[in-house]
Amino acid sequence: MEKAQNIKDLLEWYISAGVSETCGDTCLKILSAQENSFQSPVRQATTNLSQNKIASAQNARELCTQAQSLAELKTLVSNFQGCSLKLTAKSTVFGDGNPNASLMIVGEAPGADEDRMGLPFVGRSGRLLEKMLSAIGLKREDVYITNVLPWRPPGNRTPTDAEVSICLPFLKRQIELIKPRLLLLLGGSAANALLDNSDSISRLRGRFLEYQTSLTTSVPALASFHPAYLLRNSAQKAKAWSDFLRILKKLKEN
Ligand code: URA
Repeated sequence: MEKAQNIKDLLEWYISAGVSETCGDTCLKILSAQENSFQSPVRQATTNLSQNKIASAQNARELCTQAQSLAELKTLVSNFQGCSLKLTAKSTVFGDGNPNASLMIVGEAPGADEDRMGLPFVGRSGRLLEKMLSAIGLKREDVYITNVLPWRPPGNRTPTDAEVSICLPFLKRQIELIKPRLLLLLGGSAANALLDNSDSISRLRGRFLEYQTSLTTSVPALASFHPAYLLRNSAQKAKAWSDFLRILKKLKEN
């Protein structure tokens, strides 16, 4: 059981370091030779990885309490060394937009364009998001946009649970500092991470749920389809449109 977990950790580590395919057993033979001569580096690496994950998540939580402003938090995230995604990403992509926004939008992770430009939602998905916002009378500058992860996963793969739990404190602190009236969670990763729920996005979308902040208050949160998914499944755009209308209605309340 422990061995299976070590293998899973090792594979996650390879994927997060950018390995996208295997090529026969040559590598295994090399590792076996190394294991004999360097006292099992594979086992050492995976044991450290499990311990590091827990330590990194705790480290991120502790660091976050020190950040009293978005600028301080941005510096902390940029200097954080506890997430291996940083090794393969070009940029740290922090949140962007109006720090006094009523509406905060959370996506999954930067893609290639975002990684290159250092800003969230500036590629194809971002352009669709901006069109959808404009359809309810909002501009990009009116809202605050961020992601669960500040670093691009190699090849845009889905973030692992470990990466999400290491980076989640940074997102939660952004929410505390922005104090939005509403959260719009785009896609399953954002919805699952903030609503602490593993349901599919199809089940979660379309109704207001509560995001519980660590300050004993809660923020209404609506999950909807990720724009990248809508680009591939345009038949779902009607549902996303009804979600955006719900957001508009709620913003007009009070
Ligand atoms: N997809 C996301 O989830 N976030 C981005 O910033 C870009 C694409």
